Amino acid sequence: MSVGIFDSGLGGLTVWDAVTRRLPDLAITYYGDNAHAPYGVRTADDIHTLTRNAVYGMWDGGCDLVVLACNTASAAALRRMQEAGVPQGKRVLGVFVPLIEALTERGWGDNSPPREVAVSQVALFATPATVASRAFQRELAFRAIGVDVEAQACGGLVDAIEEGDMILAEALVQSHVDALRRKMPHPQAAILGCTHYPLVAEAFRTALGDNVTVFSQADIVAESLADYLARRPGMARGGTGRMLTTGDPKRVSTRATQFLRRPVTFEAA
Ligand code: DGL
Repeated sequence: MSVGIFDSGLGGLTVWDAVTRRLPDLAITYYGDNAHAPYGVRTADDIHTLTRNAVYGMWDGGCDLVVLACNTASAAALRRMQEAGVPQGKRVLGVFVPLIEALTERGWGDNSPPREVAVSQVALFATPATVASRAFQRELAFRAIGVDVEAQACGGLVDAIEEGDMILAEALVQSHVDALRRKMPHPQAAILGCTHYPLVAEAFRTALGDNVTVFSQADIVAESLADYLARRPGMARGGTGRMLTTGDPKRVSTRATQFLRRPVTFEAA
């Protein structure tokens, strides 16, 4: 049974890449719903329906565990899917909690009461749907007190990355960082709260400057998945890895290879 990694498109590849490095023997089925990307401008209902269909398809295809390597899906669909109940033996996990645990200096599953942490001014960059959900602030409030979060919805950025237009993507990063700074001039930490954004991490780092610690999810999620699987070894026994897309496999393979600087070949989902 391979472990499933899901995203609306190319962004989850940043998580896939980190997981393949952290767990080189793990069989992974990656599923990019490129035909319907971006999710971040859709309604919560729409995101839930698309995510639910994809995850059920991955469960039926033999993955017992699916990681939503997509903040937008984690924000809009995860809780609703878990509350509706998942099939016997199947699991779905999101990417918010490991990131917030890292930001608030907590170990895995530390559910102790909220406390003061090192940072008090945090900039969140995410898709419009993630920002509108306020899921990040909700999860943070369970773990930390006294942290101001200023959220910047980065309209257009996922489209530019999916199109491979990196000049536009970098210009959008600069303008979204400028817009954030007008609301919060001196953030101490910045969260790249969309798995597409590590593909332009350098542009974020340059625009934010050296005094801002940038948190991005790929390595954090890979570490947390390694920990999860060590506790539940049965969830990842055997299986073969596959790269699936609802988009054009040739086009998606070209972009993925270009972004990750390693050969990646997709097939039609
Ligand atoms: N990569 C996704 C995320 O982490 C979603 C991007 C989108 O489709 O808008 O939010």
